[in-house]
Amino acid sequence: MLPTLTLTALAVLPVVQGAPFTSSPAHLYKRCGPVGQFYNQKTSDWDDKKTGNWLDNWWNANGDLMSGSSAGFAGAFGQWAMGNPDWTCRDDGSDSDCDLQLCDNRVLNDRGDDIRPAYYVLESVNRLHMYFKGIGEAFTVSALDAALSKDSWATTFYKDKDDKSVTALKEVLNAVATVVGIGAAFAGLAGPEAAAVAGAESALLAGAVGAANLAVGEHQDDTFEKSADLGKILGSVVTDSLKSFTSANNDLMSGKTYDDDDIRAYISGGAFLAYPGVDKNAVTDAMTNMLEGIAINQLYRTQKIFVMGGAACGDAQGIGGGPWEASVCRDGKAWYLYYWQENDVISTTSHQWGWVASPPGADQLGKNEFSGVKIEDIINSSLDAYNVAGYDYTAEKGSERASDALSNSWANPGSQGASWEGIFTVPVCDIGGAVDADYQLKDYILQPYGHDSRPVWCGPICGGDLQKTKDFINAANMGGFKSPKHLCDQDPGY
Ligand SMILES: *[C@@H]1O[C@H](CO)[C@@H](O)[C@H](O)[C@H]1NC(C)=O
Repeated sequence: MLPTLTLTALAVLPVVQGAPFTSSPAHLYKRCGPVGQFYNQKTSDWDDKKTGNWLDNWWNANGDLMSGSSAGFAGAFGQWAMGNPDWTCRDDGSDSDCDLQLCDNRVLNDRGDDIRPAYYVLESVNRLHMYFKGIGEAFTVSALDAALSKDSWATTFYKDKDDKSVTALKEVLNAVATVVGIGAAFAGLAGPEAAAVAGAESALLAGAVGAANLAVGEHQDDTFEKSADLGKILGSVVTDSLKSFTSANNDLMSGKTYDDDDIRAYISGGAFLAYPGVDKNAVTDAMTNMLEGIAINQLYRTQKIFVMGGAACGDAQGIGGGPWEASVCRDGKAWYLYYWQENDVISTTSHQWGWVASPPGADQLGKNEFSGVKIEDIINSSLDAYNVAGYDYTAEKGSERASDALSNSWANPGSQGASWEGIFTVPVCDIGGAVDADYQLKDYILQPYGHDSRPVWCGPICGGDLQKTKDFINAANMGGFKSPKHLCDQDPGY
């Protein structure tokens, strides 16, 4: 998308052959005055020209102008840079209060050395305003509703014979707050220069998480029936969150802080200098995939569902073999997604011990309405969460990690969607050490899916550590569950 400013400027020019946007600064200069030579700015120009320092100095020197303006910072800056004290950039339904009238603007064109940085700030503020408008439009109730309101939600992903009908929403809602923050940061990512705009990304994340926490607070004591529409609850939390986040626009424009940051953090690094606008489809897709993941995870975490692996990919190592159709090979090690299904009729055959199978609804993943969530995502996301926090990857941890990923530029959580760390927290058991251990019947530690497949775990199979194995068993809802050890000569102790 082209910067609107350039379009306006070019509209009055004769058609120029070739690539007019990069090859005709002279035309622009002639038409618009000195400011024209700074058009077509790049994100990196902000730091290259030390615009952040310039803005700090301006801010410190113009406190009186800001406090004297009814529109605070934006009004004061609009007046100083463009002679327009009505430049409020507020979200009050009017379309024109953040417009840039720069071409031949005498106030701006008389500012000498300040023309460039003043222009960069004007452009960034204008585009930050466009970001807030765009994000409000991306997260419409109807888009999220369509994606998340599925009648079959819980019946698809929940089959346990125990009817765990009511679940506290607290933890899942806190995780939703992080997803809202990730979505807001993702919507603001200007392009490849992630490191330069890390500060702005962190501000967007923190601001949106703060807004989401307000919305979450109102639902904190809710519970939901497993058959009720979890998707609808999540959708409304997200839209409530974004309503309160877009109100951040007004605070920032007026020069106030929002969740500890003022507008300078939001536009730092040139994050919005060349910002092309919210890619609404990409953002809604990423958000719905993450929200679907969180909802599925919530249902899976109440059932006997787990990830097991850690031995060589594809090699028979004497500990059995898992279901290849639900596996991921990472760093030479294979990991499988399992569900230990209990028999639902009284039986005296070995089927009384249940069998391992594909988790409820897993056959629906990766296609149709759940095309954005794959079995691989569940395994990758759960493994990453386990590697960071074992069986205790809390919502708080998730928020801290997303923030760290953005501020230190080691990942872009939004672009990973449902595979982002901690969207899934299915308990992981690393049985790699069993290859060299002498557990009884260790040939049966891993089994493929099947009505006659019953894994046998006669030892501290997870990391060769009894406590770890106990923790895994409990995390996977198998405390007191005899099936995996009923063939062992001695109780393995978990
Ligand atoms: C899962 O992780 C593996 C190894 O890091 C990677 O190759 C694969 O693309 C990941 N899958 C998804 C769906 O992210």
